[in-house]
Amino acid sequence: MNDNKLNKIAITLSEPPRGILAADESTNTITKRFDGIDVDSSFENRRKYRELLFKTPDLNKFISGVILFDETIRQSTSEGIPFAEFLKNLGISVGIKVDTGALQLSPGSPEKITEGLDGLDKRLEEYKKLGAIFTKWRAIIDINEENSIPSDYAIDLNCFNLARYARIVQNHGLVPIVEPEVIMDGNHNIHSCYDITSKTQKSLFQHLKTHSVDLSGILLKPNMVISGKNCSEQASVDEVASLTVKCLKENVPSQVPGIVFLSGGQSNELATQHLNQMNKSSEIFSWNLSFSYGRALQQPALNAWQGEEKNIRKSQEALYKRSNLNSSATLGKYSIDLENLQT
Ligand code: 13P
Repeated sequence: MNDNKLNKIAITLSEPPRGILAADESTNTITKRFDGIDVDSSFENRRKYRELLFKTPDLNKFISGVILFDETIRQSTSEGIPFAEFLKNLGISVGIKVDTGALQLSPGSPEKITEGLDGLDKRLEEYKKLGAIFTKWRAIIDINEENSIPSDYAIDLNCFNLARYARIVQNHGLVPIVEPEVIMDGNHNIHSCYDITSKTQKSLFQHLKTHSVDLSGILLKPNMVISGKNCSEQASVDEVASLTVKCLKENVPSQVPGIVFLSGGQSNELATQHLNQMNKSSEIFSWNLSFSYGRALQQPALNAWQGEEKNIRKSQEALYKRSNLNSSATLGKYSIDLENLQT
């Protein structure tokens, strides 16, 4: 099914000092982000924003790949060059979000199931023609206050869909990023996050095995093991790094070439510090540990932009800075002092 083409792509995407820019917000999500800076979420404003991100000078020093949304892979620069072609010319690989979002698991349930398997074969053929060489599917696992969710059913079904997606994507010669995200909203402590993350990863790798997914041709995009956003006791950087690596070592087979974290709502600085701490530690692991951040790369750029032409340079400098700092974190060479030195 797979030669080592997929393995090479997965290594290139996750190999330090580079990581992935997740710019695949659905129209709903980017509209929420634009609402935050009071910018109208029109087709053209979304195009302009993505254009400014992709045209950031020297982005390719730190960014190996960009994940696009369906609308974006069909859009072009102001000179008429399709974004996919523009990125490819910079040595940045093109990825595409292929799930169609999360729906209520069953009537009355607070849990969600990510959908998108219907018609996936056909969409993948089109995305390939548009220049994509890798894909992404995100499953959402929530923890509630009473610890009554997640149910085993929600974990199992979401991991089944992730595995089926991965298999279909590999059948088309593309690399699947499998993203099981344990959400950090809530007041649960880091140990609950550890337990649920571990259970989810166990289920995921069982399903990947059942579906005969070639593990050397995937990337895992997990959450870090972290305290809930509203937990009164926030775990230290050391604790997050060590529990995250422990969880991965217990669950992720060594054939997986790379792990690219999501940022999940962490502050920009913490997302960088945690990644750095893992790469600095004396722990021995075989996978590349890098980033595939959305908010933790883009938020300062979005705030600087404000929808204004005159702010494009400032916005690009903000994206350059976060990309550069996260790149240093893939090498374990980040320090908080660099936050103030960089422009
Ligand atoms: P965040 O880094 O903002 O969590 O986004 C990553 C992503 O791709 C979510 O699917």
